[in-house]
Amino acid sequence: MKVLVTDKIHPDALTLLKSQAAVDEAYGMDEAQLTGKIPGYDALMVRSGTQVTAAVLSAGKNLKAVGRAGTGVDNINVPEATRLGIMVVNAPGANAQAAAEMAVALLLAAIRQLKPALETMKQNQWERTKFTGTEIAGKTVGLIGVGAVGKIVAKILNAFGAHVLAYDPFLAEEKAAAMHVTMASLEELYTQSDILSIHAPLNDSTRNLLDVHAFNQMKDGIMLVNAARGGIINEQALLNALNTGKVAAAGLDVFEKEPIPLESTSAKLVAHPRVVATPHLGASTQESQRNASVLAAQLLLDALNGQPVASVNQLPVVQRA
Ligand code: 3PG
Repeated sequence: MKVLVTDKIHPDALTLLKSQAAVDEAYGMDEAQLTGKIPGYDALMVRSGTQVTAAVLSAGKNLKAVGRAGTGVDNINVPEATRLGIMVVNAPGANAQAAAEMAVALLLAAIRQLKPALETMKQNQWERTKFTGTEIAGKTVGLIGVGAVGKIVAKILNAFGAHVLAYDPFLAEEKAAAMHVTMASLEELYTQSDILSIHAPLNDSTRNLLDVHAFNQMKDGIMLVNAARGGIINEQALLNALNTGKVAAAGLDVFEKEPIPLESTSAKLVAHPRVVATPHLGASTQESQRNASVLAAQLLLDALNGQPVASVNQLPVVQRA
């Protein structure tokens, strides 16, 4: 069995894969390079950095499974994989704690103006009046999505003393009560929240969800956090909302296109003085890298060995022999 790994995964996951398969690592390939290389492999292991397009999948004549060492599968053409009988396995929830902590870190950085304050310290300045922030306690925080990540964020924000509203079409009343969140419509979330944080996957119903119309409904001076997926916020609409003061500050870990193209709207957002930005680091902790990549490696081996697989993204899938 031959496995190609195209994004960096934890060494323990590589060891596990190597115990049962011949493993090659090749990083930073573009679509043409990957398409040229993939025919020799039975499986492909990725994170979010590799675009597993229809062209890659159809070039993978021997491909039986794609492993995603993480949660989001929006970089993988899942319908095409299903059509070709290629299983897509991922590790949902394995990096949820890391993603939740990152969202809260971005919120704290944005709400307390940590980025400019840190920069002035590096320049030997002592600015105590410029950087007055606001507090999370007593604020209404709206969460879009309270799945594996959102529910941890809700717990942390409740501990801060925030009032947490949640919009999630899959949330049951009793689950919301157990999480100490108030269920809300999107409109209620927009009109009532002082802080808004996104914890939803990117799909056809969330793409461009935060558009001009959504921003128009929000309170003036709202704080926004996105450590979920680029593409859920319309970046031009956010940039305009920052420039008018509708959005007071934003913490962004994810962007429409990653890495960010020069002179794109994403690049303008990163450069904005009231934006704290990080390069999709939500899942980048020692713990979550190990959890997610070892789980995905095990599932990939299960898929290759014809064993039942706990986390498949297609039901039903008839795996090719
Ligand atoms: C995920 O979907 O699991 C997170 O966004 C992390 O992505 P990454 O594995 O590329 O860091």
